[in-house]
Amino acid sequence: MAISVGMVGLGQFGRAFVHSFKRHPDVARLALCDMHPQRLADMAREHGIHECYSSLDDICRSDIQALVLITQPWLHYRQVMQALEAGKHVYSAVPTVYGAEGDALLEQCDRLVEAVTRTGLTYMLGETTFFRRETIYCRQKVREGAFGQLTYGECEYWHDIDLPVSNLREVARARRLSCQRSKGPHHPASAGGKGKRMEACAG
Ligand SMILES: NC(=O)c1ccc[n+]([C@@H]2O[C@H](COP(=O)([O-])OP(=O)(O)OC[C@H]3O[C@@H](n4cnc5c(N)ncnc54)[C@H](O)[C@@H]3O)[C@@H](O)[C@H]2O)c1
Repeated sequence: MAISVGMVGLGQFGRAFVHSFKRHPDVARLALCDMHPQRLADMAREHGIHECYSSLDDICRSDIQALVLITQPWLHYRQVMQALEAGKHVYSAVPTVYGAEGDALLEQCDRLVEAVTRTGLTYMLGETTFFRRETIYCRQKVREGAFGQLTYGECEYWHDIDLPVSNLREVARARRLSCQRSKGPHHPASAGGKGKRMEACAG
C-alpha cells in the first residue's frame, strides 16, 4: 500500500533524495519541508512538487503518514521524538543521537524505543552505507560462507576530505556556523578537535 511521505531538510544531503522518494512506487504523495525558503522553492520547482511546509511543526500538523528527517545531526533526536508524538512514522539520517554521552545517550535511545513501542509507529535509521557496493558485496560473501564462521565483526570507513571532489570541509564549516548559531560555541559540533573531526567525517 502506497503511503504519503514528507521530506524535512533539503540541504546538501537531503536534496539528493527527493528524486528517489518521488519515483518510489510505494510513495503516493510527496511533500517537502525546509525552514530555508529558497531551498524549499528550488526543490519544489525542480521536482514539480506543490505540497510544501516551512517548518517541522507545520508538517507535523498535516495528515502526512511518514517523515524523512535529513536535518542537522544534533536536531535528529528531538525531531524524531516530535514526529513520533505527532503520529508519524520516521526515517532519519545518521546519527540518531548526537552530542549526548554515556548514560544521557543511552537514556535518549531508551526514550526513542519507548516511543516506538507505545505508538506502534516505525523509526528507521537511514545508514545509506548499507547500500554501498562494497557493503552489499561483503554481505553476499558472508552469506556464501567465504569468511568462515563469524564470531565478531567491526568495520569503519574514512572519507578522504582532501580529494578535489569532496565538499566535506565546506560541509564541516557550514555545520560549525549553523551549530554555533543554534547551540553556542561549546557544543561538540562547534568546537575544534574531536568535534571538528566528527563533523568533517559525518556521513
Ligand atoms: N551517508 C550518510 O548517511 C550521510 C551523508 C551525508 C550527510 N548525512 C546526514 O544528513 C543530515 C543532513 O546533512 P546536510 O549536510 O544536508 O545538512 P544541511 O545543514 O545542509 O541541511 C539541513 C537542512 O535541514 C533544515 N531544517 C532543520 N531543522 C528544520 C526544521 N525544524 N524544519 C524544517 N527544516 C529544517 C535546514 O533548514 C537545512 O536546510 C546530517 O544529519 C548528516 O549526518 C548522512
